[in-house]
Amino acid sequence: MSNQLRNRLAVIGVLLFCFFFTASALAQSQPNPDWSVADIPSQEGRIFLVTGGTSGMGYEDAKALAAAGAQVVIAARNPERGQEAIDQIKQEVPDAQVTFESFDLANLSSVLALGRRLSASLPQLDGLINNAAIMAPPERGVSAEGFELQFAINYAGHFVLTAELLPLLRNSDSPRVVTLSSLAAHQGSINFDDLQSTQDYGPMTAYAQSKLADLMFAFELQRRSDTAGWGIQSMAAHPGVSVTELVARGPGLDSEQGQLWSANREHYQTAAQGALPTLYAATSLEAQGGAYYGPTGENEVYGPLGLATVPPAANDAEVAARLWTITEEITGTHYP
Ligand SMILES: NC(=O)c1ccc[n+]([C@@H]2O[C@H](COP(=O)([O-])OP(=O)(O)OC[C@H]3O[C@@H](n4cnc5c(N)ncnc54)[C@H](OP(=O)(O)O)[C@@H]3O)[C@@H](O)[C@H]2O)c1
Repeated sequence: MSNQLRNRLAVIGVLLFCFFFTASALAQSQPNPDWSVADIPSQEGRIFLVTGGTSGMGYEDAKALAAAGAQVVIAARNPERGQEAIDQIKQEVPDAQVTFESFDLANLSSVLALGRRLSASLPQLDGLINNAAIMAPPERGVSAEGFELQFAINYAGHFVLTAELLPLLRNSDSPRVVTLSSLAAHQGSINFDDLQSTQDYGPMTAYAQSKLADLMFAFELQRRSDTAGWGIQSMAAHPGVSVTELVARGPGLDSEQGQLWSANREHYQTAAQGALPTLYAATSLEAQGGAYYGPTGENEVYGPLGLATVPPAANDAEVAARLWTITEEITGTHYP
């Protein structure tokens, strides 16, 4: 064989290898649609933080993780609700190792303080579930830093929390970060001209932006972890539409949106069903970094677990990087 031919074959071989390597890295495999909490592998020795674990999906996450043997820290604002959640979990899982930490995602000093407390008390963090959120308060609210409240709680607070907990996550041998998005992200866009909705506040527009930002954050975190070698698997999940306190505590059950929601609630999932995509992402050995999990029934509102449809806007890596940089600037938090 001539040298020229040998060189050509070598080049073709390298190209084929790159093609298959990239294709396999990009391909996400479908979860088993019948996957349930009974399939969660033992989580003994693993430590999880669930934000917003006092109700809804976060509560179900905390209970299922504790039942699988994990040590679980629930973090939310209200210690009384925290104690109630712990008592309720212990009724069903008597040997649950579950504790509560009070913090407010709408106040970055409180977020940083939680990060410091956990870093001082835990050896490692194996899973961070960025779950807490509010949806569509009728009036525009602001956080301690002056951010629009949904931008602050749903997205920026979790951005800062994850950065603060990065060293603790990296102490784990297989750390995962699961960030909750929503079907609403399909309606979202990142309005760089008015990120804080100061010129025009639409309750659902601001919610959709925050949930698109969550999804972009999950994907960008995976890209940055891959580049920097942090070893983190970052996934996103959404619960379809699930019966929780989100509507009652947001627009309110008396609002037009609340009445529509109440009229259809028998078609929605329970919070336990809504928690499955998150629990799969957080625990399954088959779950993949960079994937987005959710229900696969009609319009992805309910149904068996699977890969969720990614809104095209969430795949824009340039916008994601720009949002990341701006969020670092306005929060004063810098990832390594
Ligand atoms: N329910 C749905 O149909 C649906 C659909 C799509 C996406 N999601 C997403 O699913 C996730 C869970 O929502 P959910 O429906 O389970 O809502 P939920 O029942 O209202 O629970 C929200 C949790 O967030 C906590 N929280 C709210 N504001 C907070 C703050 N400032 N600081 C710290 N914690 C705060 C609440 O705790 P305290 O009030 O005790 O602090 C509560 O535990 C959210 O990310 C939501 O966007 C839900």
